[in-house]
Amino acid sequence: MLFPFLLAATVMLADCADKLPACSKRVYCNSELLQLVQLKRVYEDPRGFIDFRMNYDENKTLSDFGKLLNSNNNDLSKDKLKEFVDKYFSTDNGLEKWMPPDFNSDPEFLNVIEDKNLRDFARSIHYLWPDSAVIVKDDVVQNSDRYRLIPVTHGFFTPGGLFTEMYYWDSYWIVKGLLVSGMQESAKGVIENLFELVDKLGYVPAGNRWYYERHSQPPLLTEMVATYYSHTNDIEFIRNNIEYLETEINFWSTERSFNITKDGKNYTVLRYFVPGDRPRPYSYYFDSELIEDSSEQDRIEILNGIWSAFESGWDF
Ligand SMILES: *[C@@H]1O[C@H](CO)[C@@H](O)[C@H](O)[C@H]1NC(C)=O
Ligand SMILES: *[C@@H]1O[C@H](CO)[C@@H](O)[C@H](O)[C@H]1NC(C)=O
Ligand SMILES: *[C@@H]1O[C@H](CO)[C@@H](O)[C@H](O)[C@H]1NC(C)=O
Repeated sequence: MLFPFLLAATVMLADCADKLPACSKRVYCNSELLQLVQLKRVYEDPRGFIDFRMNYDENKTLSDFGKLLNSNNNDLSKDKLKEFVDKYFSTDNGLEKWMPPDFNSDPEFLNVIEDKNLRDFARSIHYLWPDSAVIVKDDVVQNSDRYRLIPVTHGFFTPGGLFTEMYYWDSYWIVKGLLVSGMQESAKGVIENLFELVDKLGYVPAGNRWYYERHSQPPLLTEMVATYYSHTNDIEFIRNNIEYLETEINFWSTERSFNITKDGKNYTVLRYFVPGDRPRPYSYYFDSELIEDSSEQDRIEILNGIWSAFESGWDF
C-alpha cells in the first residue's frame, strides 16, 4: 500500500505547496528527500534522519537528490537512499556537554530534608543537572543553515533519551527545579533562551528545532518569569524583557484565538491550533500510515488534529 499513497502524497504536496505554512528548512520539514527516507523507513528511529547535520548546503543537497531521483525513474531503493544520506549528512546534533557554573554539589535545600532516604533521593535528582546540561556548538551559529537546531546562547537542559533539545513547557519545571537547587543563573539562562526564540519567531516553538516551527506548547513563559522573580526579586530582569512576554501574548491572542457564541453571548477563547496539512516530520511514517485510507478531507482534519494535539503538550 505504500507506493500508491506515496504518489498521492507527492501530488498532495505539490498541490498544496503555496498553502503550506512556513517551513524554514525544507530538508527537515518538507521535501521529497524527507518523504522517501521516512516512508521507506531507512532508519528505524523516526528521528534518525531529521537529527542529522547537512554536509553541503540545502540547495545542493536537494538539487543533487532531485537529479538522482530523476535518473532512477523517481524511485529509490532503501539502500540507495541510505547511500545518499551517508554522503550528504553526518550524525552531529549540534550540541556539546556543558557544566552549569552555578552547580553546587552540596546545595542548601538538602540540609532541610530530615529523612535520609528522601535526602539521598533528592541528591540523586540534583545530580541530574550536569548530566542533562548542554550548550549549542559554535559551528551551529557559524553554519546555521546546515543544522536543524535553532541556536540559543545559554546552556540548557534536555529531557533525555530521544529528546536532545530544549522543550518549551518542560522548561517551566526545569526553571522551578533549578531555583530550588540554588541555580539562579542557569534558570535565567533558560528563560533568556526562550526570549531569543520569541525574538526570532514571534512565539516560543515546542522545541529549538526547525521542524518544531509553527507549533508552540502550553504558554508558560510569563509564569516562568513570575517564578524567577519570586525567588530573586530581580525587577530589572522583568523591566528589560517585558516586550518578549507581550510579543508572546500577542501571538496567542491573534494566531490562536477563536470567537464563539453561547446562549446569546460572544466569547473569545484561546485554543491549540496548528493547520498542519502534511505528516509531522518527526513522525512522518506513522502519520502517513494513519491517514493512508482516509478521504482527502478527513486527512486534513486528522493532520490538523495531531499537530494541534502536540501543541497542547500531550505527547503520544
Ligand atoms: C537556494 O535557492 C533559492 C531558490 O532557488 C535561492 O533563493 C537561495 O538564495 C539559494 N540559497 C543559497 C544558499 O544558495
Ligand atoms: C473576535 O471578536 C473580536 C471582538 O469582536 C474581534 O476583534 C476579533 O477580531 C475576533 N477574532 C476572530 C478570530 O475572529
Ligand atoms: C456576537 O457576534 C456576532 C458576530 O460578530 C454579532 O453579530 C453579534 O451582535 C454579537 N453579539 C453580542 C451580544 O455582542
